[in-house]
Amino acid sequence: MAPITVHTPPVLQLRDVHKHFGDVHVLKGINLEIFPSQVVCLIGPSGSGKSTLLRCINFLEEYDCGEVLIFGERIGYSTSYDGRRVPMPKEHIRVMRRDLGMVFQHFNLWPHMTAVENVSEAVRSVKKKNITEALRISRDMLAKVGLADMENRYPAQLSGGQQQRVAIARALAMEPRIMLFDEPTSSLDPELVGDVLDVMQSLAGEGMTMIVVTHEMGFAAGVADLIVFMEDGRILEQGTPDRIFHNAENRRVRAFLQSYGRREKNAGKAHTATNSHNKGVCNEPTDHHSGAAGSRGCPQKRTAHQNHQHARHAGRRYLGL
Ligand SMILES: Nc1ncnc2c1ncn2[C@@H]1O[C@H](COP(=O)(O)OP(=O)(O)O)[C@@H](O)[C@H]1O
Ligand SMILES: [Mg+2]
Repeated sequence: MAPITVHTPPVLQLRDVHKHFGDVHVLKGINLEIFPSQVVCLIGPSGSGKSTLLRCINFLEEYDCGEVLIFGERIGYSTSYDGRRVPMPKEHIRVMRRDLGMVFQHFNLWPHMTAVENVSEAVRSVKKKNITEALRISRDMLAKVGLADMENRYPAQLSGGQQQRVAIARALAMEPRIMLFDEPTSSLDPELVGDVLDVMQSLAGEGMTMIVVTHEMGFAAGVADLIVFMEDGRILEQGTPDRIFHNAENRRVRAFLQSYGRREKNAGKAHTATNSHNKGVCNEPTDHHSGAAGSRGCPQKRTAHQNHQHARHAGRRYLGL
């Protein structure tokens, strides 16, 4: 990631953001700052408000009070002449949203459109590009996610992982400055998760600012600059992977990660008992002090794909999994 100086303004700021659904207080005063090219992984138990937080950031959900600032501008509300908070015109919200790409757990592709049509639809209707230009951009984006040869397939003819990569290409085609991912691999079969994480990791490597809600702790440990742990509508702790995964101060954070680690280890034992396809992964020693994605001493020259896998394996070993 790009070096951050104290003078770099945040691209995204949340200040004391609250959100209720009826009587249920779902976000209880969220404060967060995200800087250019940061990869932030948002983790925590189900129901803690992670999706709601992402949806407040792009104003798919209204927040009750506090502020969400995108590149310094508050999204969703303006201030009236007498200082009251008033709803922002919808068109202005739509314009601000263009800086934000969103990828959901369920890919939300149009079933009657091919991959390239799914990607190019908003490029034409929102960005007002002509069809030639929209197709060129869309093909570039499909190539970027490794699907250059699948542009004419319909979603039903693609695996879940391929559909999710089309969804990522669709978001990227709008040239967002920040990408938001809400559990992008949760609905995929385990063997399809890696290709989607590879794409996300490449984006991170290119300097895209990303907020990723995920349970893929290997990815979080290997790729994130900042881990944010949420529970019950609050951020309990945030910090580097090293801090959160190995030196969390908050007891609840430690307990959550320990129980996650136990589950993963048990799942791993079951997996290795029945499979042997982990052979060939480079088993270099893990450096617990130099950061999760440290890559020393692997003898073979690796492809980009192997590099990505490697960072996540390093992340998992770093977690002791
Ligand atoms: N549209 C909604 N209406 C009412 N309650 C909701 C809605 N969306 C989420 N919630 C509630 O808000 C809380 C946080 O949900 P969510 O943000 O989805 O958590 P997470 O993504 O961490 O699992 C949960 O208690 C959930 O039931
Ligand atoms: Mg969620």
